[in-house]
Amino acid sequence: MRGVVYDGNDYQVVDDLSVKDPGPGEVTVRIEAAGLCHSDLSVISGTIPFPTPVVLGHEGAGVVEAVGASVTTVKEGDHVVLSTLGNCGSCQYCDAGRPTMCRSTFGSRPQPFTWRGEPAYSFANASVFSERTVVKPNQAVRIPDDVPMGAAALVGCGVLTGVGAVLQRARVPAGASVLVIGVGGIGLNVIQGAALAGATPIIAVDTNARKRDIALAFGATHFVESTDAAREIAKRGVDFAFECVGHVGLIRAAIDLLDWAGTCVMLGVPEATAEASFNVASMYLDKSVLGCRYGSSQPQRDVRRYVELYRQGRLKLDELVSATYPLEDMKSAVHDLEAGEIAARSVLTF
Ligand SMILES: NC(=O)c1ccc[n+]([C@@H]2O[C@H](COP(=O)([O-])OP(=O)(O)OC[C@H]3O[C@@H](n4cnc5c(N)ncnc54)[C@H](O)[C@@H]3O)[C@@H](O)[C@H]2O)c1
Ligand SMILES: [Zn+2]
Ligand SMILES: [Zn+2]
Repeated sequence: MRGVVYDGNDYQVVDDLSVKDPGPGEVTVRIEAAGLCHSDLSVISGTIPFPTPVVLGHEGAGVVEAVGASVTTVKEGDHVVLSTLGNCGSCQYCDAGRPTMCRSTFGSRPQPFTWRGEPAYSFANASVFSERTVVKPNQAVRIPDDVPMGAAALVGCGVLTGVGAVLQRARVPAGASVLVIGVGGIGLNVIQGAALAGATPIIAVDTNARKRDIALAFGATHFVESTDAAREIAKRGVDFAFECVGHVGLIRAAIDLLDWAGTCVMLGVPEATAEASFNVASMYLDKSVLGCRYGSSQPQRDVRRYVELYRQGRLKLDELVSATYPLEDMKSAVHDLEAGEIAARSVLTF
């Protein structure tokens, strides 16, 4: 079957990939659409170290093709959004409704694929840049059949991460001021999450001026091209600042732009050894810096919730799909994203 493999040097669309049959407690999903998140590019650039060969992609939706023994939560033909967690369901964190903290979700490194005689890793337990993937049942979250697959795919990372960061991690209250640095797939979902929460103003910052229209359409009240320009609007600073790029200099800028008692949420992922700095004395004014994994989401609850908000017209999903490419054109999709030509997300179709 076809898929996108990164072998440690380069990535390529191959047609000689295979995936195992679903074992007990496993589900095979035929992927129909997959979003290109910056984290996939970060594996290729080495910013996110990952063993190879690895099948890329972690934001996808598709149709359940087969289920292994003892799987009862989904059945053949169900439409599903994939979650990257695959949490155990029985540890103290799962019990407490914090699946992103389940220790089994990190480092297990499954290898359900075979490529040129070698086992190949699954990226983020998902590997959705592949015609088929095998996941745990709790990673396949059922959605209504009438939700378009391209829109559904983007819930799997961008929406869960961005909207979740606002509603679950930061718990932004109505009326709070919000700064969003980086208007990509993640930043746009922070913007629409902040709008849902009733935040105002919502100041979006991106060095790419072409992001203005979509930032405003998703609920930003202001768009500027630098963090210095954001200071002109929020003179006292903001209540919440979200870094959605992955640069330590921007984390510093976000913290410097906090008002008293403000909170910085770090969503961008810089290289694994990166260190950031801030002025300690300023933090004494009840300020906080928060890390955030996958929007601190509960995928089974939140995917359904976001799809419902979409059906009510309160969450934008169709508008997140800026361009679609057949899987074969993966290199064009990467080129266009890196060239700043993608307003929100690129979606690969199968
Ligand atoms: N914490 C998590 O769980 C999680 C989940 C998914 C993605 N991420 C990370 O979030 C980050 C963003 O991902 P994405 O898919 O939205 O990326 P993207 O490439 O779609 O968007 C990045 C945006 O940042 C803008 N940008 C670049 N440099 C800038 C600067 N100096 N100032 C302002 N804006 C700048 C770009 O123009 C672009 O619009 C990545 O680091 C990704 O790895 C984290
Ligand atoms: Zn992602
Ligand atoms: Zn667990």
